Amino acid sequence: MPAQTPAALLLLLLLAVRGGGAPGAEETLRPPARIGVIGAGIGGTSAAYFLRQKFGRDVLIDVFERGEVGGRLATLNVDGQDYEAGGSILHPLNLHMKQLVKDQGLSAIQSQGELLGFYNGEELVFEESSWYIWTFIKRLWYYGLNYLRMSTWIEENLVNFMRIYHYQSHEYAFSSNEGLLHALGGASFTQLLNQTIGEAMQKAGFSPKFISEIAVPILEFCFGQGVDMNAFVGIIALTGTDPGLWSVEGGNKLICNELLSTSEARLISGTVLSLEEKTQHNRRSGDLEKQYEVTYHSESGLTTDVYDIILIATPLQPEIANIAFHNFNPPIPEFSRHYHQTVTTLVHGHINATFFGYQDPSQFQLSSIFSMDYPKLFINSISIVSPVKKTAPKQPSGPPVWRVFSPEPLTKGQLSLLFSSYDSVFEKRWLAYPQYNPPEKSPPIILHDQMYYLSGIEWTASCIEMNVIAAKNAALLAHHRWYKKLDKVDQEDLQERLKTEL
Ligand SMILES: Cc1cc2nc3c(=O)[nH]c(=O)nc-3n(C[C@H](O)[C@H](O)[C@H](O)COP(=O)(O)OP(=O)(O)OC[C@H]3O[C@@H](n4cnc5c(N)ncnc54)[C@H](O)[C@@H]3O)c2cc1C
Ligand SMILES: *[C@@H]1O[C@H](CO)[C@@H](O)[C@H](O)[C@H]1NC(C)=O
Ligand SMILES: *[C@@H]1O[C@H](CO)[C@@H](O)[C@H](O)[C@H]1NC(C)=O
Repeated sequence: MPAQTPAALLLLLLLAVRGGGAPGAEETLRPPARIGVIGAGIGGTSAAYFLRQKFGRDVLIDVFERGEVGGRLATLNVDGQDYEAGGSILHPLNLHMKQLVKDQGLSAIQSQGELLGFYNGEELVFEESSWYIWTFIKRLWYYGLNYLRMSTWIEENLVNFMRIYHYQSHEYAFSSNEGLLHALGGASFTQLLNQTIGEAMQKAGFSPKFISEIAVPILEFCFGQGVDMNAFVGIIALTGTDPGLWSVEGGNKLICNELLSTSEARLISGTVLSLEEKTQHNRRSGDLEKQYEVTYHSESGLTTDVYDIILIATPLQPEIANIAFHNFNPPIPEFSRHYHQTVTTLVHGHINATFFGYQDPSQFQLSSIFSMDYPKLFINSISIVSPVKKTAPKQPSGPPVWRVFSPEPLTKGQLSLLFSSYDSVFEKRWLAYPQYNPPEKSPPIILHDQMYYLSGIEWTASCIEMNVIAAKNAALLAHHRWYKKLDKVDQEDLQERLKTEL
């Protein structure tokens, strides 16, 4: 046997270390020519951005949008100023959003410290005070150690959650949402999808009083639903009590426009009607290739286009996307579970403090009221909101703008109960987030060979950052699967492995 030269040995070693796919696989496999992304919300636009990073400059990326870029990130104009009407609050540890906002040259606005009250349908059961020490003492007095326990509990879960950034920076991807959660916190994390937040908080030792008076109103504010949501989304909602919350200056939706233009994707304004699997002969290689035909309706009429890879970044519920799947074998599953309706109403007016149990309305100082689960009550929350643009010194005095979240549109009668006077009212109805009902099983990410579904992650938790995490995961997954680099997909023990990886 001939002696190996050191160089050859080195090469062998290198090949062994690379493992998985064949060396240089990326050069030998044809790159995709066209990728289609459906939906230009934060999910679709960040997906376009990550796809461009992974697949390089030659691939053509089309993003379909039937409404406005931004989707559930949207503003409403009240008397010349814009206010967030959809997804509004970001957490200081939403690292993808933080990075994207910075890279796109946008800036953050910190949320104003607000005074919060908790309402039981008749009166306020707890009110924060402008003197923080007093709030702190009242919390201890009313709820013992529950508040402190909540911050440690949230932190323990966040530590696990933050691993996703490490994994994604090393380009690891997951082929299911459960698999992604499992990689972060093992079975105890996926278990969170199998229990309600009420059960999980009880098990963690929170008092029933704290759960119903404090936790439920926070959950209702964030998701229009209470203790029956899954524990994972519940914990995400409770992180909204952390300090340092922020939003994008000028409006959260701006990030979507910036991502679209940076990704050099083509925006197609139109409604996608159907997707169909097509098998075609590659003229050069003679191979059979699978492609996807997108039929959409736009100003120029009914059109079809063919793509190598498809990313779907809208909930596929018929009442939302209404996309038909033709010719898929096995067929694409039905997406019949419902989204929860939340109505945003912006009201320029004076709140009726009497309605919230105040004897002397002049004493009323709160900027936000979250309500407990009370069947007869018609709102989830009411809060003063600031314009998305940092405004000149101080606004002229006058009534503030209040944002009300409610399950149904407010009637005139309800408005005149909530407000002692008001001049303008603006309303936006959303199918906002999933109607949670654990045990939760989230839809597949891989709908077909090269067709990926991002929005299924919302069944674990629906928020801006989760959709960006899903977008990055789908872009990585699409890339690894196209180039057959399966050693980057669904790996176990990443936490251990990354300690030693270069
Ligand atoms: C009232 C409200 C408050 C919220 N508050 C927060 C919050 O404070 N913090 C937070 O993190 N999250 C919040 N969220 C959730 C957050 O807004 C969403 O999770 C996120 O914006 C979803 O982004 P997405 O891109 O996945 O979906 P979407 O924004 O829904 O984007 C999907 C896009 O696809 C388009 N589309 C659908 N079907 C078709 C079709 N057939 N053809 C072409 N285009 C199509 C739609 O028009 C839409 O623009 C809130 C949501 C709502 C509604
Ligand atoms: C959660 O429940 C589902 C059934 O609904 C089950 O298949 C799954 O194994 C459970 N997961 C855990 C971590 O217990
Ligand atoms: C304010 O709320 C009280 C108590 O619900 C109600 O009686 C009153 O009609 C409301 N409206 C005004 C303008 O005070």
